[in-house]
Amino acid sequence: MCGIVGYIGDKEAVPILLKGLKKLEYRGYDSAGIAVQGKTGLVVRKAKGLIKNLEEKINAEFAGPGTHEFKDAEGIRGFAGIGHTRWATHGEPSDVNSHPQTDVSGKIAVVHNGIIENHGKLKEWLTTRGVTFQSETDTEAVANLISYHYKGDLLQAVLETVGRLEGSWGLGIVCTNEPDRIIAVRKESPLVVGIGKGENLIASDVPALLEYTREVYYLEDREIAVLHKDHVDFYNDEGQAIQKEKTHIEWDAASAEKGGYEHFMLKEIHEQPKALTDTLRPRLSGGADTKGAASGGSADAKGAALSAAGARKINLDEIGFDASWAQANRVVITACGTAWHAGVIGKYAFEHFARIPVDVDVASEFRYRDPILNPKDIFIIISQSGETADTLAAMRMAKKGGARIIAITNVVGSTLAREADLVMYTWAGPEIAVASTKAFTTQLMCINLIALQFGVLRGVISPAQLKEYIGALEALPAQAEKILKGKENIQRFASQQFNKGKVFFMGRLFDYAASLESALKLKEISYTHSEAFAAGELKHGPIALVDTSTLVVALCTQSALFDKMESSITQVKARGAAVAAITYEDSDRFDRLADEVFRIPRTDDGLTPILSVIPAQLFAYYCAVQRGLDPDKPRNLAKSVTVE
Ligand code: M6R
Repeated sequence: MCGIVGYIGDKEAVPILLKGLKKLEYRGYDSAGIAVQGKTGLVVRKAKGLIKNLEEKINAEFAGPGTHEFKDAEGIRGFAGIGHTRWATHGEPSDVNSHPQTDVSGKIAVVHNGIIENHGKLKEWLTTRGVTFQSETDTEAVANLISYHYKGDLLQAVLETVGRLEGSWGLGIVCTNEPDRIIAVRKESPLVVGIGKGENLIASDVPALLEYTREVYYLEDREIAVLHKDHVDFYNDEGQAIQKEKTHIEWDAASAEKGGYEHFMLKEIHEQPKALTDTLRPRLSGGADTKGAASGGSADAKGAALSAAGARKINLDEIGFDASWAQANRVVITACGTAWHAGVIGKYAFEHFARIPVDVDVASEFRYRDPILNPKDIFIIISQSGETADTLAAMRMAKKGGARIIAITNVVGSTLAREADLVMYTWAGPEIAVASTKAFTTQLMCINLIALQFGVLRGVISPAQLKEYIGALEALPAQAEKILKGKENIQRFASQQFNKGKVFFMGRLFDYAASLESALKLKEISYTHSEAFAAGELKHGPIALVDTSTLVVALCTQSALFDKMESSITQVKARGAAVAAITYEDSDRFDRLADEVFRIPRTDDGLTPILSVIPAQLFAYYCAVQRGLDPDKPRNLAKSVTVE
């Protein structure tokens, strides 16, 4: 995720901004930049890669290497500025796409976390008013829109600009004409204001502030902070002054990095509702955006907007997906590890929603087999990192065979993204824990969207069905949130079960596929021997291993197969296994049979893996913690497997 810092006070801004950015490095980034109110205007410096590159650039230009004194650098001396570490979304990592982004006059600079969903339309509109864009970023549209609305009052220009934005944002803004203030505004992307003595700061995350203050204000959605060196004013989105309550930060630096969570993995599990929203929302158009509608405007205006907007649709124009893709004879999905599990679920989703034949393959198997390839095949290659050696080799082989490639990846500008024909990004933000969580559920969101779009284009899904599916997708973030609220239950269960000798996950159809990922999570971080099998396979082998030392987690969300699951559970119980069931919250079907029941909200049976994996992720996490292990860094595993 990107990071924001801002400083205004009596001290030299550049060293403080650079230091602040370094405190945010743990969040992951691919480039960095600063803008400072210099003597003769805004000084903007940006660099692709590590903050060190930016620092070297600044030092080489303005001071001796390794110093921050800037004694001879009148140009960059300044006491107010903003800084940013970027995790690329729109446009690959590069100097020009780094933030701060400026307007055409160079008088307004903006740092931005989040995604401006209507940036395309805004850029078009601004282009007709003479703006030429330099970067591929959505943020450059914001800088130029502020400039368009600027009539001598930056606050007023910001208010008018954010009223026209769709999506999510945490923004830090400076303007040469108003060197004595920094403006910060947020919607769905965190920003915190730090109150110092004779200085004030903003940051997207507390660690960047801790050296200067522990007194902070958290900005709420659509609130605006105007920072001066000796005071901060807060406003609502109508420009009315508001009072806010100060918070004293107790966290030490290490827990601040994890947002107060004990581990990155737990933080990332909790980030799933937002990651799902960020991945879904830019791919929907028309009709009601319930979230947007809920957050502003009069009831009448919302009603009019809803009826004018027409039916809600999946819109993959952004990735260049057109009807020709849906004419494929076959879809082949290849990936490794967790991403392969997303592929297995993808196969079921494609069959369910689009009625098209799908093969799914582990990339390391595919690349050494002698697969039959056809130019009418479409390959979907899934990889969080976009750099996995086997996955890339499989993609290149498919390309050579004439197939067209859709990549699903979390890393903009990764090798996979560069080499594929189409790229659909998972907007999960960087995943730091080795065990994949939010990348997995957002991969599922992407694959479901593609499968549904295939279904629409192939005439398999009716408008009424599509409406229902979209409604189900839109409900998922809140449903995921609800599951997370019940985490204490899972923690308690893990504290009873963490020493089990073997844990089996079983289910049918989508539940089988979700079992694969659930078992992998547990073995990866708790080193428990865990396996997944299709519940129908129980009698064909796995039951030989079931005894009183076994825990069986039965995933039971495929309504038409509840009887079958009941019978499988009965069989493992008869051999002395403890059983936990994961099922719908409105079903008491398994209460009598299972020793423990974890409930998920009702959704389409084909979408359940996005929800049912969350209790399994939490269970794996709490088992690892109970065993005294570090879930973020499991032994022998690397985050990105770039060699065979
Ligand atoms: O970056 P990728 O998605 O291509 O990585 C694939 C696997 O290495 C990865 O999913 C691995 O299985 C994770 N450790 C799962 O938690």
